Amino acid sequence: MKRTALVALFLAAALGQASAQDAAAGEKVFAVCKACHQVGDTAKNAVGPVLNGLIGRKAGSVEGYNYSEANKKSGITWTEEEFTKYIQDPKGVVPGTKMAFAGIKDPQKIKDLIAYLHTFDKAPVKLTQQ
Ligand code: HEC
Repeated sequence: MKRTALVALFLAAALGQASAQDAAAGEKVFAVCKACHQVGDTAKNAVGPVLNGLIGRKAGSVEGYNYSEANKKSGITWTEEEFTKYIQDPKGVVPGTKMAFAGIKDPQKIKDLIAYLHTFDKAPVKLTQQ
């Protein structure tokens, strides 16, 4: 029993470290998003909406941001899976979106990006009622 507990602890520590590394790598990937999106405690809507608390929320739900009809009516909820599809080809997944971004194809970069975005799960963002 004792040994199992130790192994479990060790594994948890190792996994924790891996996701911290992913998030650090994801911050570098996010550099291209920063031209249009903000995250963190002082984030404001800019060219694109605030991306705090992204995973799990509905498309087009950030208060005060003027979304395209295409985004608002996409019916997407930003699960990791939906986000992964979208970020590879934003205009393919949401035709008519005003997000002028070609996409990221590298699956590892997308995973890192998601790890980074998760570090803002609890950062402030006002959502409209939907
Ligand atoms: C050139 C500016 C620009 C860049 C670069 C950009 N975006 Fe966007 N993004 C936008 C705009 C504008 C919208 C609003 C789209 C709409 O309303 O059609 C948007 C919307 C989004 C949405 C939907 C948000 C919601 O609340 O529904 C996500 C998710 C997103 N962007 C993620 C990213 C990520 C991640 C990156 C970097 C890999 C990125 N964007 C790069 C401009 C940009």
